[in-house]
Amino acid sequence: MFDTSTYKNRRKKLADLIPNCAMLISSYPVAMRNPDVGHKFRQESSIVYFTGFEEEETVFLYRPGRTPETVLFVRPKDPLHELWEGVRFGVEGAKNHFGMDACFSIHDLDKHLSELLSPVEKLYYKFDTNPKTDTSVLNAVESARRARGRTGLGVVPIFDPTEVIGELRLFKDREEIAALQRACDISAEAHVEAMKFAKPGVSEKQVEAVMQYIFKARGSDRVGYDPIVGSGKNATTLHYNENKDTCKDFDLLLIDAGTECKYYTADITRTFPVAGVFTSAQKDFYNAVLTAQMDVLDMCKPGVKFIDLQEKARKSLSEQISKLGLIKERPEKIYEDKLYQKYYPHNIGHWLGLDVHDVGAYFLGGDSRELEPGMVFTVEPGLYVPIDDQDAPEEFRGMGVRIEDNVLITATGNKILSSGVPKTVDEIEEVMKLPSKFADL
Ligand code: GLY
Ligand code: MN
Ligand code: MN
Repeated sequence: MFDTSTYKNRRKKLADLIPNCAMLISSYPVAMRNPDVGHKFRQESSIVYFTGFEEEETVFLYRPGRTPETVLFVRPKDPLHELWEGVRFGVEGAKNHFGMDACFSIHDLDKHLSELLSPVEKLYYKFDTNPKTDTSVLNAVESARRARGRTGLGVVPIFDPTEVIGELRLFKDREEIAALQRACDISAEAHVEAMKFAKPGVSEKQVEAVMQYIFKARGSDRVGYDPIVGSGKNATTLHYNENKDTCKDFDLLLIDAGTECKYYTADITRTFPVAGVFTSAQKDFYNAVLTAQMDVLDMCKPGVKFIDLQEKARKSLSEQISKLGLIKERPEKIYEDKLYQKYYPHNIGHWLGLDVHDVGAYFLGGDSRELEPGMVFTVEPGLYVPIDDQDAPEEFRGMGVRIEDNVLITATGNKILSSGVPKTVDEIEEVMKLPSKFADL
């Protein structure tokens, strides 16, 4: 994780956005798959962002300008649990190590919360992260309200913090960009290994295994989302992640996979022919999506509105849809009547950071926001033709292609953080000729 000064600086910026207020952030509940064996926990992204604290059963309360200003509720030391689950920081340890003003046991949340909230004007808190914390917050606010008669304080309205937090997390600093670059580099290596490994007869799961091997071998703690490894018509199912079919000759293979570094995730998609060489139809279809992606990437610079990227993708894909003969209409008609939605049903991209679909407003005061240096987002056009689409030329039926890169806006333009993965037809075919170190899998 980063130095404690990084988190302190982030909190200082938050203080300016929420004067006289407080923000409370809860960790997610421990998911119950099989409570007997446990499973890995991932900290809530904004707790990571403001504190760097990684343990479960955590509540972070920030009251800028008050004493104590930073309060962390954590699991207390417990030798028996620590024997099974590993060492905890505990109350004292967390306070010292994470530079908090005060730390309490999570079991004492209800005891302290009402008093800590009573002087604040309003509370930023996101419901539905953790039902147990929801109850504690509601009880604390209610008891602060009841105490109002005596103190004149204590009606604490609750506001959703997503927008405030989003405004901070949207702009990545040097350390965050380095983490994102590392996440992209590891993910790029995994995509390259997948290309080298794929051939007719391997399973989608084996391809995923090759990627997971690289992720772990390079020290990544977890993937940012379940990898999608879809061959043939599976590529036309947008959230396919069963990854259980066998890759066949003449299939395209769509892989959407990205891993984390320091909690920041990559989100990269490539599509390539299982056999290592594009057929003529596959090449046309692939280049149609690539053209649209390059059109959008060329526009990514400060001052351009996010919605303009969206419209550019729609326009460009409308041209390509017409050219491929998927819809026998003029490009203008396909664009204006939104006919492209049949083959391009999703958006051009999303903010990227601690979460794969990261926080941050796309519109400000009803207007699409402009790109600014430090923003990181995906550019991911795609075309997907259902296998039973009688309107489409037969050669394209069951074809799905998405190309997804991760883009950082710089002072003068952009930097493609995921540029380590081959993308043109020639580049992909060249890499696929190389031997795979996983060939015996
Ligand atoms: N992998 C999720 C997405 O592309 O949005
Ligand atoms: Mn993706
Ligand atoms: Mn994405």
